[in-house]
Amino acid sequence: MAFPLGALMTTTLLLFLVAFSLIPNVHATIRSSWGHAAHNMVGRDNKIVDLHKHHPVFGPGPWRQAYATFYEGGSGTFGGACGYDDVVKDGYGLDTAALSSVLFKHGEACGACYEIKCVNSTQWCKPKPSVFVTATNLCPPNYSQPGDNGGWCNPPRQHFDLAKPAYLKIAQYKAGIVPVQYRRVPCKKQGGIRFTITGNPYFNLVKVWNVGGAGDITEVQVKGDKKLINWTNLKRNWGEKWETNAMLVGETLTFRVKASDGRYSTSSSVAPKNWQFGQTFEGKNFP
Ligand SMILES: *[C@@H]1O[C@H](CO)[C@@H](O)[C@H](O)[C@H]1NC(C)=O
Ligand SMILES: *[C@@H]1O[C@H](CO)[C@@H](O)[C@H](O)[C@H]1NC(C)=O
Ligand SMILES: *[C@@H]1O[C@H](CO)[C@@H](O)[C@H](O)[C@H]1NC(C)=O
Repeated sequence: MAFPLGALMTTTLLLFLVAFSLIPNVHATIRSSWGHAAHNMVGRDNKIVDLHKHHPVFGPGPWRQAYATFYEGGSGTFGGACGYDDVVKDGYGLDTAALSSVLFKHGEACGACYEIKCVNSTQWCKPKPSVFVTATNLCPPNYSQPGDNGGWCNPPRQHFDLAKPAYLKIAQYKAGIVPVQYRRVPCKKQGGIRFTITGNPYFNLVKVWNVGGAGDITEVQVKGDKKLINWTNLKRNWGEKWETNAMLVGETLTFRVKASDGRYSTSSSVAPKNWQFGQTFEGKNFP
């Protein structure tokens, strides 16, 4: 009895060590192959999932200084440069922000979540300590106004133009502009990542939204189950809209999303083979 048990334990330990020593290699392989047009990742999926378990959950970043103003508008007007159609219907509520171009980074920040505190003014700051907002739009520069007098979103300024309801939680309307501290925080979303496919058979535009965790995504891949068996990278079209001219029609689609913190989330077979343009599919989310 003792011998088989010992042997079993030794084998288990060996397997564990082998698996463990392979992880960096697997990681290196994924890193180096990522970014190419199409790669056969079949068979590596389980290891990728394992890697995620070792990747820490996205946590708050350091506090930084910025300023905040507010803008008016309906829920349909707050998602412009990120491509969200209606921030309220899309689950972001009215706690949203337009970011100056330095923070917006050509749409890379779309979907990222921030904690914002009004600071340094007992006169203009409200007692509420902070507000949590999602980046859903760009605050464009206006070079006909100086950066310290109206051109608040001009580079290199770090600026949040908050939706009015969000701004009014932390600052007085009359202040107009207040100094703030901000930090990245994890995005808390209900349900899974949503994939809305629009376009036509030769040009697919996929809106990726309701992303939890880091919230901002850096890569999107798709694969099917018939002809499209290799992962295909989508290209950022604008904001959260990603494009590909791969033939997706008639394929059961699996999406893989990489967040800015390096984590992946794979949503397997979320669109059935008879999916239609205009439909939205719900996948897995980041924790
Ligand atoms: C899938 O990728 C493999 C390896 O890169 C390649 O040999 C194969 O031709 C690809 N298949 C299709 C259908 O693109
Ligand atoms: C830029 O600022 C000028 C001067 O205040 C103003 O007239 C103009 O409407 C602004 N442009 C935009 C796009 O807001
Ligand atoms: C707020 O005040 C602190 C010191 O009290 C200072 O270091 C910081 O730069 C100020 N922040 C802004 C945005 O004015």
